[in-house]
Amino acid sequence: MAVLVTGGAGYIGSHTVLALLARGDEVVVLDNLSNASAESLRRVARLSGKAPRLIEGDIRDRQRLRDLLATGAIQSVIHFAGLKAVGESTREPLAYYQNNVSGTLVLLEEMRRAGVSQLIFSSSATVYGAQASVPYVETAAIGGTTSPYGTSKLMVEQILRDAARADSRFTAIALRYFNPVGAHPSGEIGEDPHGIPNNLLPYIAQVAVGRLPALGVFGNDYDTPDGTGVRDYIHVMDLAEGHLKALDALPRQAGYRAYNLGAGRGYSVLEMVRAFEQACGQSLPVTIKARRDGDLAAFWADASLADRELDWRVSRGLAEMMADTWRWQQNNPHGYR
Ligand code: NAD
Ligand code: UFG
Repeated sequence: MAVLVTGGAGYIGSHTVLALLARGDEVVVLDNLSNASAESLRRVARLSGKAPRLIEGDIRDRQRLRDLLATGAIQSVIHFAGLKAVGESTREPLAYYQNNVSGTLVLLEEMRRAGVSQLIFSSSATVYGAQASVPYVETAAIGGTTSPYGTSKLMVEQILRDAARADSRFTAIALRYFNPVGAHPSGEIGEDPHGIPNNLLPYIAQVAVGRLPALGVFGNDYDTPDGTGVRDYIHVMDLAEGHLKALDALPRQAGYRAYNLGAGRGYSVLEMVRAFEQACGQSLPVTIKARRDGDLAAFWADASLADRELDWRVSRGLAEMMADTWRWQQNNPHGYR
């Protein structure tokens, strides 16, 4: 029996597929390659010595899913597929609800039809909304999201909760990621954003490699130790391992559960820049800019629930996140292209 990984050619998906293959799981990837390249999975195959099966297709293609699930070969689903750019979601909300919410509904309906009852979902710390107090803990209310992207994650969490309540055979885990960074230590796979990166680490890495002139720091007047935004950065390989632990926990669990996956501590933008300078051995040009709309000052995870119930915790620190990002960026200055 195989694990179906939707969006498995993407950043977090490809690292998780590698971790699954490395421990001997069979993997089928369904990805429409809208934000990924099949090259990521060719490299995963080289690193693991095993080729994941790639089906190039869309989760909203009901017949495709029906045919795939009808083979009886799929035991569980890890669902990464979706759109993820917060800013773009405010300009294209319908595309985000269509892909992230309607797409997930098609997947859930076809899973139910085929009797596939175990799902892991990529959620986000953003479901805690602007009013939550830090550290974010799973017992806190969710809601008050500040973008259509965040609301799409909130809606899917609610759908999963309701679906599990209505059908005792269905079990689902939502993993609320904090800020994933880093790359596989081989430097062969990593984050490959199209265009100008929205996120901090890929931006810094592209400045270091000379593709971008300087990092703009979005605000240095927040109520934080150095005035810049504080986030909980988590190494993508720790995150990948969290999916394996969650997959193993699914058969033991009933209903729906949500877990924070974070390191449990925050770093500021300037701390991240300094740590990257250490890794790449050069100083990086930085300019202070206005705050970015919708940004929060500081948040990090209480990650103790995943520790207790999934036996999961991070094992990689800031220096490793930076060294691995830099290795990937240096070896692949233009990503997979
Ligand atoms: P990514 O864009 O690299 O991966 C998403 C993958 O899904 C891509 O390969 C894309 O081609 C594919 N895809 C998109 N829509 C699809 C569709 N309709 N059908 C089939 N494939 C489709 O993003 P990522 O960083 O790897 O994120 C994976 C998941 O984790 C996403 O759901 C994202 O919202 C969530 N998440 C990411 C972060 C982050 O900072 N990277 C944080 C929290 C949550
Ligand atoms: N930042 C800069 N300059 C940049 C990019 C980012 O100063 O060029 C700062 C941001 O202001 C923030 C920090 O770096 O303080 C991290 O920003 P990211 O864009 O890397 O990450 P966010 O915390 O804004 O967003 C992440 C995920 C989203 C998710 C969100 C939850 O990328 O998917 O966390 O709030 F929705």
